Amino acid sequence: MNSVFLQACRREKTPFTPVWLMRQAGRYMKNYRNLRKKTSFLELCKNETLAAEITVSAREKLKVDAAIIFSDILLVLEAMGLGLEYLKAGGPRIKNALKGPKNVKALREGNVSDSLSFVFGAIRKSRARLPKDVPLIGFAGAPFTLASYMIEGGSSKNFSKTKKLMVSDEFPWNTLMEKISRVTLEYLNSQIEAGADAVQLFDSWAGVLTASEYEKYVLPYSKKLIHALYQKVPVIHFGTCTGPFLEIFSKAGGDVIGVDHRISLQEAWKRIGPRKAIQGNLDPKILLLSLPEIKKHVKKILKEADGRPGHIFNLGHGVLPETSEKNVVALVEMVHEFSKK
Ligand code: CP3
Repeated sequence: MNSVFLQACRREKTPFTPVWLMRQAGRYMKNYRNLRKKTSFLELCKNETLAAEITVSAREKLKVDAAIIFSDILLVLEAMGLGLEYLKAGGPRIKNALKGPKNVKALREGNVSDSLSFVFGAIRKSRARLPKDVPLIGFAGAPFTLASYMIEGGSSKNFSKTKKLMVSDEFPWNTLMEKISRVTLEYLNSQIEAGADAVQLFDSWAGVLTASEYEKYVLPYSKKLIHALYQKVPVIHFGTCTGPFLEIFSKAGGDVIGVDHRISLQEAWKRIGPRKAIQGNLDPKILLLSLPEIKKHVKKILKEADGRPGHIFNLGHGVLPETSEKNVVALVEMVHEFSKK
């Protein structure tokens, strides 16, 4: 497939800067909120037809240069034997969170592809409906971010349980990270087989660690996983708050490094080096401002990227639920218009 997004992943020259947005299909969209009135989030994820419909219609509405499959990083926890639910307020809850070695031992590794077959079905259906030159992005949570949900049992502010077990000699951190990595590799390989044209690894919470913690407890696992995926499709390696240790984060690999809005693109590129593409990094809050203000910030980011090959425009993190659809549509138009060569 030839597409502007895939060209940018390979750091080739493009006629304009490709753009897509994390959480581009979701609660800020009226259509999605209507669907959610009748169907729970988990049911939507598990319904191949509806998940494909959400994926494809968001891409059509926004005219973004890539679609991302409608799913969630936490579904794999259910496949590994943990209980998963999404509460009306407060986000995800994992019913039997990991407390000690026995729980790690009990985590299932086999049959992941069978338990998650609805994701592959949704990928096949989406791929068949998307225009030929619009790539579909598959994704998974990175080992650290998934381990943090397994241990905290849900969202967390300070990740104190995770950090405690990570450094404790009595907790089999290595076994846990290896299990998650093996399952995630199989999961992403199956997504690629089903038709994903690129994959993104979300290490959303890696930034709560120090550089040396990341290097010791996370890097070896993410690196092994990413390297096993190379040469198949482009890999985007995303994290937030990774600025303080971006050199080390990017050492784990990725054809594209996803950076958040807490670092400038110029600075990020200096630290990552010239051999990787960059994805980012408009602060999602900017989309809550007026169109002239959004324009100013879009221009600033494009100026920082300075037309260099290998920039994929995105937000620093996902679209906020209170964002207006009109602003998101306008953002995509602005990126295309202002970056035209
Ligand atoms: O980007 C897309 O449009 C594709 C779909 C997608 C979702 N989740 C759908 C979703 C993707 C790529 C994700 C990734 C994800 N999920 C991450 C990594 C990205 C990030 O934001 O850091 C994380 C940490 C999760 C875990 C998760 N899922 C949380 C914490 C929550 C609740 C809070 C929230 O942000 O909504 C979810 C639920 C979720 N995932 C929703 C959607 C559309 C909302 C569900 C609903 O109530 O309808």
